Amino acid sequence: MERINIVPKPNKTELLGGEVEVASLGVQTSLDPALGSEEYILTLDESGVQIVGGSEQAIFYGRQTLAQLKGICPCVKITDKPAHGYRGFMLDCVRHMFSLDEIKKLIDAAASLKMNAFHWHLTDDQGFRMWIDRRPSVAIEGSVRRASEFGSLKEDGEYGGYYTSKQMKEIVDYCAERYVTVIPEFDMPGHCSALLHVYPQIGCKGTPVEVKTHQGIFPDVLCAGKDETFEIIFDILEEMLEIFPSEYIHIGGDEAPKKHWKTCPDCQRRIRQTGLKNEEELQGWFTNEIIAFLKSKGRKAIVWNESLKSGLIGKDAVVQMWMDPKNTCVDFANKLGGKVIVSDFFHYYCDYPYEMTPLDKTYNYKSVLKGIKDSSTVYGVEVPIWTEFINNFERLNYMFFPRFAAVAETGWTNEENKNAADFRRRFKSYSATLSRIGIVAAPPHDWNPPALSRAVGTLKFMNSNVRKKPENK
Ligand code: ACM
Ligand code: ZN
Repeated sequence: MERINIVPKPNKTELLGGEVEVASLGVQTSLDPALGSEEYILTLDESGVQIVGGSEQAIFYGRQTLAQLKGICPCVKITDKPAHGYRGFMLDCVRHMFSLDEIKKLIDAAASLKMNAFHWHLTDDQGFRMWIDRRPSVAIEGSVRRASEFGSLKEDGEYGGYYTSKQMKEIVDYCAERYVTVIPEFDMPGHCSALLHVYPQIGCKGTPVEVKTHQGIFPDVLCAGKDETFEIIFDILEEMLEIFPSEYIHIGGDEAPKKHWKTCPDCQRRIRQTGLKNEEELQGWFTNEIIAFLKSKGRKAIVWNESLKSGLIGKDAVVQMWMDPKNTCVDFANKLGGKVIVSDFFHYYCDYPYEMTPLDKTYNYKSVLKGIKDSSTVYGVEVPIWTEFINNFERLNYMFFPRFAAVAETGWTNEENKNAADFRRRFKSYSATLSRIGIVAAPPHDWNPPALSRAVGTLKFMNSNVRKKPENK
């Protein structure tokens, strides 16, 4: 099977005997409603190529497989469907922005790897990057920081910019043509310094807040006690819903310090009036207000796993696991039947160097988390990249690929069909697809550094970029 080098690896491949020149063959496609909505059967023999799919999306996936079959190829029947329904990547366009052309290249790569979700991180402490017609100052004032001081990556002068409604719609359309859903993230109640810079009155203290210039976890969170907080949030969300047709909207919920909530008269009144026990429950209540708003508009929420600490989040929300030492996501899945997206910090975060997160560590991570009773509660996997320390597309690609493809394969290929050495070999062929797209991956030499380089590289990274301490505030 050495000449069938497809990423992600198809789940069933049968050789039919003989070989054919792929380029000489005609392609016929048809729908078979008996197949799953992402399931296809590709047959390639002397008579041509046939792709039968359960939907147009499934036929599209058959075409992605065909695009990786090159030259003289063994006659083959591929019967294929994904391990998980959700297969995504996340791009942080706050710490550093990327152009539409660059984002489209990532979407092309995702589509070729049969991924179906682009989680677009658009708001954070260091900038608010979505234009909101109803509230122009959010982008005009909230997108600009006075300097950038991310560890050793220091850039003098203002850094700003945002995506216009037309640009965001262009990305939505580009994705839709490739069966990728854009899931925009408005991160709240924490990571809101940029929004609080525009509306300091919806912070607990009401004092001026700077758009942050460096990475970290900041105490400036939205006040959960003031009604105006929700007026502003709902205005922003309403406009997001006009631009992004996705069933799910990401509403963040990570790293929200409770320091100000503890002493804020408005937050404390809210706690009393709604019969909550503490500030953790207040975050649960806050999140449920947003979830109810989205529900009233026919949408649902994805939240980062800290939202589960309140014990108040219901199974309608999908939880994205990134750092979960207490296994709250496993409990959410087992006790409530809630769905989980797996993006484990130690295995999937591509902003960390290969010395810290080697390719095989990413590849071998099991998507069905330890302790999960029903594997169908794992909605899928997502590979995130945060861009505090990444300020250009070449670096982004180096950090993302091949780990991006490793997570895509975990999302698509059943565990029993995966093999790290085989993936590395196939990825070398897949690099041709990436270079057609305009993406250059890290060279093989860098994928799995030896132990000494790992230790040195980890120390070097830590020394030059003392990053936010994950969670545990
Ligand atoms: C996260 O990395 N704070 C979700
Ligand atoms: Zn407050």
